[in-house]
Amino acid sequence: MKDSVRIGMIGAGHIAWSHAEAWRKEATLAAVASRRIESARILAERYDIPHVCRDFGELLNRGDIDAVGITTPHHLHHPIALAAMEAGKSVFCEKPLALNGLQAREMWSTAQRCEVKTGVQSGMRLFPALRLLSRLLREGKAGQIHTFDAHWSFDWARQPDFPLTWRFLRAEAGSGALGDLGVYMIDAARWLVGEIAEVNAELAVYIAQRPLLTSGGHFGELRRLHREGELDIPCETGKVENDDVCQMLLRFENGARGSIRASRLHQEHSIRVDCERTSYLWQMSGDRRLMERSSEAEYTPVQDPEPPGDDTIVTTFLNNIRLDEDEAPTFREGLAAQLVIEAAVKSNETGGWVDVAC
Ligand SMILES: NC(=O)c1ccc[n+]([C@@H]2O[C@H](COP(=O)([O-])OP(=O)(O)OC[C@H]3O[C@@H](n4cnc5c(N)ncnc54)[C@H](OP(=O)(O)O)[C@@H]3O)[C@@H](O)[C@H]2O)c1
Repeated sequence: MKDSVRIGMIGAGHIAWSHAEAWRKEATLAAVASRRIESARILAERYDIPHVCRDFGELLNRGDIDAVGITTPHHLHHPIALAAMEAGKSVFCEKPLALNGLQAREMWSTAQRCEVKTGVQSGMRLFPALRLLSRLLREGKAGQIHTFDAHWSFDWARQPDFPLTWRFLRAEAGSGALGDLGVYMIDAARWLVGEIAEVNAELAVYIAQRPLLTSGGHFGELRRLHREGELDIPCETGKVENDDVCQMLLRFENGARGSIRASRLHQEHSIRVDCERTSYLWQMSGDRRLMERSSEAEYTPVQDPEPPGDDTIVTTFLNNIRLDEDEAPTFREGLAAQLVIEAAVKSNETGGWVDVAC
């Protein structure tokens, strides 16, 4: 069973290494493509991947590949996924699914037309404590859900001299903290609470200029070199084109309210869901257990056992291929999150509440 799905990876940068680890456990790695062939070669050597190429089209032409994993900058998700699906390959794509709703819609409709399986990286769904929370909320013992409040922030860009990589450019990344980090909480909000009907968002840039990038290198490599003072930092700077911090109010279709804050300048990871009878709190720091409190009590760990946490980011995708199922998260969930992102961008431009398009 393990060897039945043969994977071609497109992109061999920072996150590709975690993907390779997941694929290796559950499928067969057949080929890897990356713009700089050297990146692909290094990954191929570590994971024993037999074929390496520079051009993703070459990889898609291979008959020995059933499915493709995309870990490139955001602007390439759409063209690569479309080409892969047209070539009959199933596609697992990193988040955010695309640059905008139009692209994401085309990706989902192409998947349906080509009858291939899809998956999108939705990492929050793997945390055992959040799986437990999802079950408890569905069972409804805590009563009506009132509010969902989430923070998902990583301070990797806090230093103003961290260089202007593709993540700061609209043409390659789309939005900033919103699409890169907020997308996780949008997916969590939909998964845990329900469909988001309206958003009211503000996107802020605090570091408006950054030194130009003078060398190649993937995300993790650049962060290490920068941390160790080994990165060449030129005086010349360029404009940061997308948000450092995003904050957003939510109205859910079921009447719940919510908020999401995502930042690339600060650090915090938490989800709180307040219901009629119980409040739940989860934080990524510490033991990551789900906490609960009722009236006038301290938060204490939820006693129900957590579901097992053996799945990787690609388990559901591979099961969907093997069993011919369409369990979430597929491109449908990627599209839904993209439409919330799009509404948030519009709300920031126009001010006030914006409906999330269906
Ligand atoms: N970094 C994280 O912690 C993280 C976490 C979760 C999700 N993600 C998501 O993962 C994706 C990739 O992020 P990353 O941090 O891994 O980026 P990255 O380190 O910059 O790597 C991007 C990769 O894409 C390759 N690439 C660029 N243009 C290409 C092209 N035309 N054809 C083929 N390959 C091309 C790059 O090639 P070369 O460098 O070889 O030229 C590199 O291997 C994004 O969607 C991001 O949001 C990242």
